[in-house]
Amino acid sequence: MSMKTPIYLDHHATTPVDERVLEAMLPYFKNHFGNAASRTHTFGWEAEDAVDRAREQIAKLINAQPKDIIFTSGATESDNLAIKGVAAASEKPCHIITQTTEHHAVLDPCKALERQGVEITVLPVDQHGQINPDHIQNAIKDNTALVSVMMANNEIGTLQPLTEIGKLCRKNNIYFHTDAAQAIGKCPIDVEAMHIDLLSISAHKMYGPKGVGALYVRSRPRVRLIGQMDGGGHEKSMRSGTLNVPGIVGLGEACAIAQKEMASESTRIKHLRDRLQHKLFESLDRIQLNGHPEHRLDGNLNISFSAVDGESLLMGLRDIALSSGSACTSASLEPSYVLRAIGVSPDLAQSSIRFGIGRFNTEEEIDHTTNRVIEEVNRLREISPNYK
Ligand SMILES: Cc1ncc(COP(=O)(O)O)c(C=O)c1O
Repeated sequence: MSMKTPIYLDHHATTPVDERVLEAMLPYFKNHFGNAASRTHTFGWEAEDAVDRAREQIAKLINAQPKDIIFTSGATESDNLAIKGVAAASEKPCHIITQTTEHHAVLDPCKALERQGVEITVLPVDQHGQINPDHIQNAIKDNTALVSVMMANNEIGTLQPLTEIGKLCRKNNIYFHTDAAQAIGKCPIDVEAMHIDLLSISAHKMYGPKGVGALYVRSRPRVRLIGQMDGGGHEKSMRSGTLNVPGIVGLGEACAIAQKEMASESTRIKHLRDRLQHKLFESLDRIQLNGHPEHRLDGNLNISFSAVDGESLLMGLRDIALSSGSACTSASLEPSYVLRAIGVSPDLAQSSIRFGIGRFNTEEEIDHTTNRVIEEVNRLREISPNYK
């Protein structure tokens, strides 16, 4: 039996590689295979030029200096480098402030540091998933070295008030790190206007390849950071290891495309998301939107369907690639900690689905999804003892 390819609506987990990105990468697997650190021949020089170009493309998208971009293997590594690197560079035991709906790539390095004596404060969020900057101000201590608050959440899409947080950090002389894995290429980022000192990105969330990312590290005023990977001293000793040149070229191209197309793409995707949201709310009762009603990623829609088991709903919707939350925790039976943090009950958290709309989705796919979700929710509710 042949199965039609499902409609892909899980763009927070990962995105397909854009054809244009793939085309840009291919020569760097073939003819231009040089090591960007080889200084004695054209193979090395070509690779180095390609890496420099990518640094410029990335820097331009976030209004940074190209020399402040450090290549890594993805946002997990960038988050680890930012958080552990700042703690390692602190002269005395430091204090770090973060918030409860961060990705594990931020929460877990913080926990690891806590075991080594670093003080960690994890602040709560409101019912929409936003942090109150006043809470950050009140949590600051004499030894606070870093505030880490994500730009956009990977489950509920909520955008944080970054400019306000950045201002507050600058005023208090504290480094400000943001995990922008979900936000880059989807919303405008300006590290100057937002006073961001460290920013993590990942290529595979923005139509680039998996296994490559970057950390922006401000050089003026200079962020003191100690590399976490010892070796050949690449990337100004902040990240040793031979550069993944094809991946880096792909990340650069993905940023260049986003720079050109972000505004129009964002309008189109928001229209598709709103269409899906309105139709579902019009057709189904007892459903709830999770996340901020306005300050949210354009492609994000996280909904709880009461009296419907999320896993059964996903099983019934095999023609659509969806998820109940973060890809990293999708094997876990625990209700999402992000939904719990915004006050969703454990039961309702288990009844939630995350829709992630992206670059190649069409109106036809969204309409098909809408009809299928309505059909499946009604079917499951008919057989549910919890729905009267
Ligand atoms: C907010 C956020 N941070 C970090 C990561 C990890 O990124 P990567 O897969 O590049 O390590 C993800 C992706 O799952 C994410 O959504």
